[in-house]
Formats: sequence, structure tokens, C-alpha cells
Amino acid sequence: MPNKNKAKTDYAETYGRQWIDQSKYWTSMGYHVRYQKKFIDCLAFEDSTTILECGSGTGEIAQFTMEQYLSEDGPNVDFYLADISATLLNSVRENLSPPKRVTPHLIQATAGNLPFADNFFDRIYALSMLWYSPNPKQSILDMLRILKPGGLMCFDVMSVLNTTGIIGNLGNKLSVAMQGGQRVTYLLPSEIKRMLRRENVAFDVTGYMPILPTTLPGIGNHLNLYNALNWLPQTENALFIEFCNKIIYCVRKNG
Ligand SMILES: C[S@@+](CC[C@H](N)C(=O)[O-])C[C@H]1O[C@@H](n2cnc3c(N)ncnc32)[C@H](O)[C@@H]1O
Repeated sequence: MPNKNKAKTDYAETYGRQWIDQSKYWTSMGYHVRYQKKFIDCLAFEDSTTILECGSGTGEIAQFTMEQYLSEDGPNVDFYLADISATLLNSVRENLSPPKRVTPHLIQATAGNLPFADNFFDRIYALSMLWYSPNPKQSILDMLRILKPGGLMCFDVMSVLNTTGIIGNLGNKLSVAMQGGQRVTYLLPSEIKRMLRRENVAFDVTGYMPILPTTLPGIGNHLNLYNALNWLPQTENALFIEFCNKIIYCVRKNG
């Protein structure tokens, strides 16, 4: 294997091992869990039979989704969990407990190069994943390729203009320059909107946690009012969205 590919694989596994612990920290943050539930609620899973989570981590979001939406009687569901990290897919294998009508499929794959046929899925989601992708826009377009006409996909990005985005972006650039490691991409939310307007889709955009800081490097949640006050403000105003910490895009592919 060429060295560059080996370095990528090693990094995916190092990050995977870290994420198994970090995910426990994030699950203890009330504001983050409220945000995750908002995200999953956008997906309206009823009647969908082919579902993909891209960047499925330890599988806890998939498990939540299955319990919340797929535990009652209904059609059989093929639920694909794709992740770059074999370590994390092993953790899914150990922990996932799907309801009767759900068949899980664990796939090691990279966003932007997903090994599925065009127009395959009813639902696709990528939660807290795109900022780790080397090319988030290409990853979004690849997910759109494999979404069925009429299907729904949701993903989130972090804005570079939010307080956390400005500090996080600088901190990440410095730490990557000094000690290597995971590059995190903060975006201008309007860039994604412009890209989606060129596709045959309808979409909604909602920004969460405007302006004020959330979790900050070195400071943690000491300045995070959203966590302290049990608060999750959201906005659909295009101007405010630019200054939100996280932005969720819900995209329906036209038939
Ligand atoms: C922050 S975790 C989020 C996991 C899960 N979606 C959640 O919200 O709990 C990011 C996940 O994306 C995966 N990931 C990172 N880069 C990826 C890529 N280029 N392609 C596929 N998965 C990737 C990581 O291995 C990890 O499982």
C-alpha cells in the first residue's frame, strides 16, 4: 500500500479509538444530545426501507433511530452503516441491537467514494461527519447520487463565522501545522446552499446555536450557555444561519 494511503488508514483507526471515548463525553452534553435529536427528527423515516448512515461512529445514532422509528411492525428495512474506520465498525458489531425488521449492513467506506449504485437509498444521513471529510462538497454530491428520486437526505456542517468556528478553525489549523492530525473543515453555510441550488433538489436549511460559543478548545463548556441553560435556539433566517455553530440541510431529491 502506498505510504499516503497507509497514513490515512492508520489515522482513521487512531481517530476511531479516540472517538469510542470521546462519544461518551459528547453524550453527556445535554445541548449536543438535544441537537442530535433535532437532526434525526428531520428524517421522517416512516415507510423508508433502505437507509444509510455515513460516518456511523459507534452506531449510537443508528441505534437511537432504530428504537425511535423502526421498532414497531412495518416493512423490512436494510440499514447500512458506513464508516472509514474498521475499529468503529467493530464497535458497532459488538453493540448494535437492531429491531426484528431491520437488517444492518456494516460497510467500510469513505465519504465521497461510496460503493453503492445510483438512486439506491430512501434516506441518507451524515451527522457530525462532513467536517472530517477532505472534500465535504464532493461527499455531499456523492450522497446525492445514491439517493433515490423522492428520497430525503440530511447532513450538517459547521460555520466558519460562528465564535466556535473562528476559534476552532484557527486552533485546528495551528495544531495540524504543528503536530499533524485530523483536519476539520469549517464552511460558509451559503457555499453549500449555492451548490445545492445547482442540483435537482428541494431543500431546507436550519441553523442551530447562533453566535455564542459552544464547546471551545481548552475551555470546554465553561462559556457554553446553550449547555448551561438547557437551550437550543434555531433559525431559518439566511443571515443568522451564517453565524450559527451547526447548520442542518434537509434535501429532497426531485423525481
Ligand atoms: C464525530 S464522529 C460522528 C459519529 C456519529 N455520526 C455520531 O454523530 O455519533 C465522525 C465519524 O465519521 C467518520 N469519518 C470521518 N471521516 C470520514 C470519511 N472521510 N468517510 C467516512 N467516514 C468518516 C469517523 O470515523 C467517525 O465515525
